Amino acid sequence: MCGIVAYIGPREAYPILMKGLRRLEYRGYDSAGLCLLNSDLKVFKCKGKVSDLEDHVKDSDISGNIGMAHTRWATHGEPNQINAHPHFSQNKSLAIIHNGIIENYAALRSELMNRGYAFTSDTDTEVLIHLIEDIKINEKVSLQEAVRIALNQVIGAYAIVVISKSSPDKIIAARKGSPLVVGIGKNEFFVASDATPIIEYTDNVVFLNDEEIAIIRRNDELKILTVKNQEKTPYIQKLELSLSAIEKGGYDHFMLKEIFEQPRSIHDSMRGRLHLEQGLVTLGGIRDYEQKLLNAKRIIITACGTSWHAGLVGEYLIEDLARIPVEVEYSSEFRYRNPIITEEDVVIAISQSGETADTLAAIELAKGKGATVLGICNVVGSSIARATHAGVFTHAGPEIGVASTKAFTAQVAVLTLLALLLAQKKGTLPTSHFRRLLVELSTIPDKVEQTLKLNDKVKEIADIYMNATNALYLGRGYNFPVALEGALKLKEISYIHAEGYPAAEMKHGPIALIDEQMPVCVIATRRGTYEKVISNIQEVKARKGKIIAIINEGDETVKNLADHSIEIPETEEILVPLIATIPLQLLSYHIAVMRNCNVDQPRNLAKSVTVE
Ligand code: AGP
Ligand code: GLU
Repeated sequence: MCGIVAYIGPREAYPILMKGLRRLEYRGYDSAGLCLLNSDLKVFKCKGKVSDLEDHVKDSDISGNIGMAHTRWATHGEPNQINAHPHFSQNKSLAIIHNGIIENYAALRSELMNRGYAFTSDTDTEVLIHLIEDIKINEKVSLQEAVRIALNQVIGAYAIVVISKSSPDKIIAARKGSPLVVGIGKNEFFVASDATPIIEYTDNVVFLNDEEIAIIRRNDELKILTVKNQEKTPYIQKLELSLSAIEKGGYDHFMLKEIFEQPRSIHDSMRGRLHLEQGLVTLGGIRDYEQKLLNAKRIIITACGTSWHAGLVGEYLIEDLARIPVEVEYSSEFRYRNPIITEEDVVIAISQSGETADTLAAIELAKGKGATVLGICNVVGSSIARATHAGVFTHAGPEIGVASTKAFTAQVAVLTLLALLLAQKKGTLPTSHFRRLLVELSTIPDKVEQTLKLNDKVKEIADIYMNATNALYLGRGYNFPVALEGALKLKEISYIHAEGYPAAEMKHGPIALIDEQMPVCVIATRRGTYEKVISNIQEVKARKGKIIAIINEGDETVKNLADHSIEIPETEEILVPLIATIPLQLLSYHIAVMRNCNVDQPRNLAKSVTVE
């Protein structure tokens, strides 16, 4: 999620905070704010950019040598001035900034409302600061103790900083699931989401671990406590990274960073939605439309580009598991071909940016014809998120690289949850099969982590084919959309012409292209029509095509046939796209880098196609 900066020491805090926010802008955000403690505890915040915040505080009293600042990537509550951080506690004696998601915020919020608390924002964050105040007052404990007790009641991810009006010499910070770094300077401390805002002041840092609370006092030693009340000795490290490297979290490109974020982003897309103990799936955002979906004559998925590929996986999933007819439409075609849409249809619009013009137009067309329209978006408050009747956010965090990677797998994860939810409600799957799928789905983030370890192997293959002029990607069943997505990744960042095809379709024309110059990437995992894919591989080999096979670990059969094999962890057939896509993302990334292409901003492309 987005950005946190805090400071306590002898210097004026404002310039340090604002410079720190600028250092974190690369992470993507929708609003910004800051808090300063001088004669009063002051909060300034607004929707938009850090520069808008600077305009907003003009002519205000921005003095003070203790403060904190935040860039928000909305998860609960539209991006607007009220929902921006920092948030005050009810009596305005405390302020908080937060990165992450508090899953049980609704339950905490209603409990606090019963105790007389009123909320000004729609955020999960405001609930936490009211809870801290409530504990501090009613249990008559210190600020750090109130924070610790409150965090024991929180389910979810957080990186927080809390400042109290009555404690000008203290900052409390804590983390679980979202990163937080404490910089230790000479009689001054810095807190930030990563080392970027800190490195120009000190290279002595402590990377907080999950469930650790940092108690930072002016002119005192840093103290670290766990939420279980154990004191920890701070592990002070020396930063070696250069400033430019840190902005991308140590990666050379945002795309690579986002590829490697996928264990976390897939986990976040399922957070609070996949309930293993109870053996069920919940999607709160569309709860009121479940019956509409179950009774739908047809589900129409409309999207563009990578999101369209995710939609195609969705078609296979929903028809296979829930037995509801699904059609997948390119938004640009759907909006103009005078389609037949009725009130019995449910349209699902998929969009990472939530601003794609063609998909927005398709939504308006469908709504105009009486259909129920749901969204699967990555940006809270985006046009598509607001235009649809309801929806599910993918929670993949900001995707900066133009080539979509973590958004795709998050979209597929959400579509998998949707298909399972519908199957659960319709009873189209035996309970044992359903539960087996839930358990396997919960292992996917770890399996993606394992697959990312193939990076060097993939890089070796990229080196061999970096000068190819054409490439073919083949897959069957659930892997057909993966072939399409792999081809799109290669062509959009390396400018090599690549096509994705259903493997069997090759015989109907594309096989004429095969020669010893043509790399053919085949997703040949053991499930589904595996034997048929082997036949297709043999057809390619007979024409001297070069085979790069994505196979399951230990598959000697295909390994002996292919020129190169990339072995990925085994999983359920319906979940293979979440894993098989990873090596294809890495392959296109490394080839593009070797060809000196602008990986994060490929020529002619925009991150969001807001025009027709
Ligand atoms: C994906 O790598 C491309 N950059 C592009 O196809 C993208 O998926 C498409 O423009 C749709 O964008 P959206 O998901 O934001 O609607
Ligand atoms: N969940 C919080 C909100 O929606 C924090 C989001 C973030 O990480 O920026 O305000």
